[in-house]
Amino acid sequence: MPVITCIDDLKRIYRRRVPKMFYDYTESGSWTEQTFRENSSDFSDIYLRQRVAVDMAGRSTASTMIGQDVSMPVALAPVGLTGMQHADGEIKAARAAEAFGVPFTLSTMSICSIEDIAENTSKPFWMQVYTLKDDDFMQRLFDRAREAKCSAAMITVDLQVLGQRHRDLKNGLSAPPKLTPASVANMMTKVQWGLGMLGTKRRFFGNIVGHAKGVADPSSLSTWTAEAFDPSLDWNRIREFRKMWDGPLIIKGIMDARDAREALNVGADAIIVSNHGGRQLDGALSAIRALPAIMDAVGDRIEVHLDSGIRSGQDVLKALAMGAKGTYVGRAYIYGLGAMGQAGVTRALEVIHKELDVSMALCGRRDVRDLDRDILMIPEGFEGRWQA
Ligand SMILES: Cc1cc2nc3c(=O)[nH]c(=O)nc-3n(C[C@H](O)[C@H](O)[C@H](O)COP(=O)(O)O)c2cc1C
Repeated sequence: MPVITCIDDLKRIYRRRVPKMFYDYTESGSWTEQTFRENSSDFSDIYLRQRVAVDMAGRSTASTMIGQDVSMPVALAPVGLTGMQHADGEIKAARAAEAFGVPFTLSTMSICSIEDIAENTSKPFWMQVYTLKDDDFMQRLFDRAREAKCSAAMITVDLQVLGQRHRDLKNGLSAPPKLTPASVANMMTKVQWGLGMLGTKRRFFGNIVGHAKGVADPSSLSTWTAEAFDPSLDWNRIREFRKMWDGPLIIKGIMDARDAREALNVGADAIIVSNHGGRQLDGALSAIRALPAIMDAVGDRIEVHLDSGIRSGQDVLKALAMGAKGTYVGRAYIYGLGAMGQAGVTRALEVIHKELDVSMALCGRRDVRDLDRDILMIPEGFEGRWQA
C-alpha cells in the first residue's frame, strides 16, 4: 500500500484510477466554483492557538451525534453515484464507517440500494432523502429506511433545483456511463475500475429504478432531477415529511439563521450548516463563515452540524471549536474510495482522526467534547459584516 500521509495523497491516486467523468463529478462546484474553493480556503483563515506543558495524556475523540455514539464526530456525508467511483462503493464506504465507529449516510441518488446496505452491514446507517413530488415514492422511501433500521433520516433542503456544474454537462454524466468514443477511450485506461464494474450488478440508481414512476431516463442525474424533484418545496411540505418519519431527523443545507429557526420549528433534531460542498448556490458564503451566526441563532436549542470544505482533522477541530457538535466529509472519503476501495475510506478516516487528535493535543485539550473558541484565533469580521 502506498504511504498515505494526507487526504491530498488519496486524491492524487483517485484521479489516476477513476474515469474522468466521475472524478470531475466529485471535484467540481457550480458555475465559477467560488463557493467550492472558499469552503476549504476559509478554514485556513482561522488559526489554532498552541498551548504547551498541559497534560495531554488520555485523550478522547469520542462523542455523540444526535445521541448516537461516534468514535469521532465526523460522519460520511451522502454522496450520489458513489457506486460509480468504485464497484459497490456505498457498501464499501458503509463498512469502513461501521468499523471506524462513525455514521454512514446513504444518498437517495446512490447506486447501491437501502436494502443492499442493510444486508451488508450490521449497524444502523442514516438515510438521506431528497424531496420529490411523488408522495408515494416519498412515503415508500421513509418506509424502506425504517425497514432497513436506519437510525436517522436526513432531508436535504438545498436542492429543489440543480446548480449547474459545467463539466458534468460536457462529460454527459450518467449512471451507468454512456459509451461515447471519448468516455470509452478514457475508461480503457482505468483497468481496475473497469474490472470492478464488470463484476457487479449494481450500476443503476438502486433506490430509484424499479421504485419510482414516470421518469423517462433514470440514468441521467440532471433529467431525473428536473423531472422528479419538487421545486415548490416549502416548510409546510417538510412538515408533511416529518410526519412520514418518526425517528431522529436531520435537516441538511442550512446557511441562514432564519432557515435554522424554521428547521427547529418543524421538529428537526439537528441541522447541517452546508452549501452542498459548493455545488448549488455559487457565490454563497463558505459553510464555516456561515456557522457563527447560526450558532448564535439556534445553537442552544438544536444540535448544529457542519459540512462543506473539510479536508483535514484541523478543519474538523475548527468547526467543533466554533460550536458544531458534529461534522461530515464528502469528497475526502470519496477520494479514498476511488483510490483504494474500502481500505481507502478507512485510510481517509484514519488520517482525519490522527490530525484531529494530535492538533487537539497541541492546543492543550484532551476531550473533543470540551472544545471552545479559546483554542482558535479567528480574524476580526470573519463571519462578515453585511449590510441589512
Ligand atoms: C460528488 C458529490 C455528490 C453529492 N451527492 C449528494 C447527495 O446525493 N445528497 C446530498 O444531500 N448531498 C450530496 N452531496 C453533498 C455532500 O453531502 C456534502 O454536503 C458535501 O460533499 C460536503 O462538502 P465536501 O465534499 O467539501 O466535504 C454530494 C457531494 C459530492 C461531492
